[in-house]
Amino acid sequence: MREKINEVYKMAKESLNGCKDLNSLNIIRVQYLGKQGEITALLKGMKDVSKEEKPEIGQLINNARCEIENEIETLQKKFEEEELANKLNGEKIDISEPSKVVEKGEIHPLNKVFDKLIDCCVAMGFEVVTGPEIEYDYYNFEALNVPKDHPARDMQDSFYITDNILMRTQTSSVQIRTMENRKPPFRIVSPGRTYRADSDATHSPVFHQFEGLVVDENISMIDLKSMLTKMLSMLFGENTKIRFRPSYFPFTEPSVEVDATCPSCGGEGCKLCKGTGYMELLGAGMVNPKVLENCGIDSKKYTGFAFGPGVDRLAMVVNKIPDLRMMFENDTKFLEQLK
Ligand code: PHE
Repeated sequence: MREKINEVYKMAKESLNGCKDLNSLNIIRVQYLGKQGEITALLKGMKDVSKEEKPEIGQLINNARCEIENEIETLQKKFEEEELANKLNGEKIDISEPSKVVEKGEIHPLNKVFDKLIDCCVAMGFEVVTGPEIEYDYYNFEALNVPKDHPARDMQDSFYITDNILMRTQTSSVQIRTMENRKPPFRIVSPGRTYRADSDATHSPVFHQFEGLVVDENISMIDLKSMLTKMLSMLFGENTKIRFRPSYFPFTEPSVEVDATCPSCGGEGCKLCKGTGYMELLGAGMVNPKVLENCGIDSKKYTGFAFGPGVDRLAMVVNKIPDLRMMFENDTKFLEQLK
């Protein structure tokens, strides 16, 4: 019996010495201390031990069990600590590591100009109205006093979808849609995308316009001029002066081309304005009575003005850039520098 106890103890010791983790430790625990384990088997063997020897043998088994239990407990602690240390190591935060840069979004320079124009006009009592980009020939041309064979159509190289439907070439179509549906007085602005078959440094096939329309009694060219002076001063600076040059649009009469003093030199003449002191900015005019009548508005009682800058052009002037394509190449390093 003594030998057996010794053997069990030695075997247990050996297994525990070679034990490397909690899992195998548990297996050893069951193997020696479990209900069917070796120590339990030894205790069961006590019944065959003579009365005299019982106390001593019992003591030996108990000692062996205590030793094994202690050893298991020590290992258990050691393995648990190791496991925790490993886990903490894996989760360690390196506070010296450079953090990921969070890229901040920005409003596109074109939309910044749109936002400024809208804010300014809304403050003057204008309402923002939008219209479809795929438009009937009627709204884009006919009702604006540009019949089918009118030479003015050549001014605007259009993308037709069918004979009667095209990508709108101008936001002036929204003038007609507004006048058809409402009774004057009204003041509206209409921001949006427009399309023409045109592409170079200052023209893009997709571009943007900002249409303005006021119809009321006693509206005159003076109202147009003071309104545009306000709007362009807000964009280019308080001392901006504007001038009208005679022009032609079928839907305005008289029509003007509007120039503003160059925001770079203030009118002295510089490279940006090619020495003229002025920048050509937009078309405008008094609404042609024919257009009012096309929309069922009494042109004897009501007059109106309309204007329609290209917003891409305004953004180019605001940011003093020579090529409009630069704004749409989406080079964020470049765009970040723009106003
Ligand atoms: N729609 C005209 C254009 O493309 C601009 C304009 C708008 C002119 C309103 C007069 C009045 O180019």
